Amino acid sequence: MKILGFESSCDETGVALVEADHHGPPRLLAEALYSQIDMHAAYGGVVPELASRDHIRRALPLAREVLAQADCTLAEVDLVAYTRGPGLAGALLVGAGIAVALAAALGKPALGIHHLEGHLLSPFLGEAAPQFPFVALLVSGGHTQLMQVDGVGDYRLLGETIDDAAGEAFDKSAKLLDLGYPGGPALSRLASQGNPAAYALPRPLLHNGNLDFSFAGLKTAVMTQARKLGPAMSDQMRADLAASTQAAIVDVLVAKSLRALKDSGTQRLVVAGGVGANLRLREKLNAGAAKLGARVYYPPLALCTDNGAMIALAAALRWQRGLAPLETDGAFDIRPRWPLAELTSTSA
Ligand code: KG4
Ligand code: ZN
Repeated sequence: MKILGFESSCDETGVALVEADHHGPPRLLAEALYSQIDMHAAYGGVVPELASRDHIRRALPLAREVLAQADCTLAEVDLVAYTRGPGLAGALLVGAGIAVALAAALGKPALGIHHLEGHLLSPFLGEAAPQFPFVALLVSGGHTQLMQVDGVGDYRLLGETIDDAAGEAFDKSAKLLDLGYPGGPALSRLASQGNPAAYALPRPLLHNGNLDFSFAGLKTAVMTQARKLGPAMSDQMRADLAASTQAAIVDVLVAKSLRALKDSGTQRLVVAGGVGANLRLREKLNAGAAKLGARVYYPPLALCTDNGAMIALAAALRWQRGLAPLETDGAFDIRPRWPLAELTSTSA
């Protein structure tokens, strides 16, 4: 079974080919990615209309590249998967339209995949795949959620952000420090030269007893501190403020993830989404989990941010469990807003 997957929910066009059978884990045969980051950087954030137009330009050339890499013809593709949501409506429509049209032309089925399901199953493309059940921390530019995952398509929300996402907190703080867009990786690079205890920043909802997050207040605290330092802010102060910001975000993510592990009695934590690439987050989670006798699973570093491989993989895991309808009528829809927990009732 060869599955061609398309990801186009935001500012990355990703295409990948995954092979699956009923015996072992799915295998990634080839993948290609085009990031629009440079195009959007000039505007300080993603411009949805530009994103949609660029997905149109990139998707089919990337698909050709992937098939050539895998030495596979289009006729050998058995299923075309695409990101159905959540994400930018126009960007999703491009990927869905191309995938479903391609499937119809090939006389093969198409399958819409939930973007966050792709993220949380992406460690299955790593060297050691986790067993079910596990707790998943999904931390991206748009989402911060803790989920209980009992199987493919069986997801229960444990807690989520009530305002900004963790990635947004990184990006907005980075903007305040003039670090460009997207600021997460830049802020974490600068933070490595700073003192994380230099400025006392809030750890919102750290002790509120549940698994929800809030990051909007942190951004305001960073702004207040940056203004206080004003034009006198030295390079070292900027690095210290970056390190303190990163420490505040990471502390909350770690504390809540460990609490979720304890509450659920599970010994496996999966971390997925762009912020999962953050090295301080990885160090602190690994150390905290080890104390609980638990283990943390990450996707390969290159698959932490958006990519086509996770979409093809999620389709493959669904197909292996009989959760992928193999008949489609060429009709499709997209779900720009789509709670992940909804999958549990629709696939049961
Ligand atoms: O999953 P993703 O690629 O896209 C979304 O679905 O949102 O995540 C992108 C987010 C951005 O906010 C970016 O700043 C953040 O992940 N990010 C990081 C790092 N790498 C990416 N944040 C902190 N540290 C990093 N190393
Ligand atoms: Zn994502």
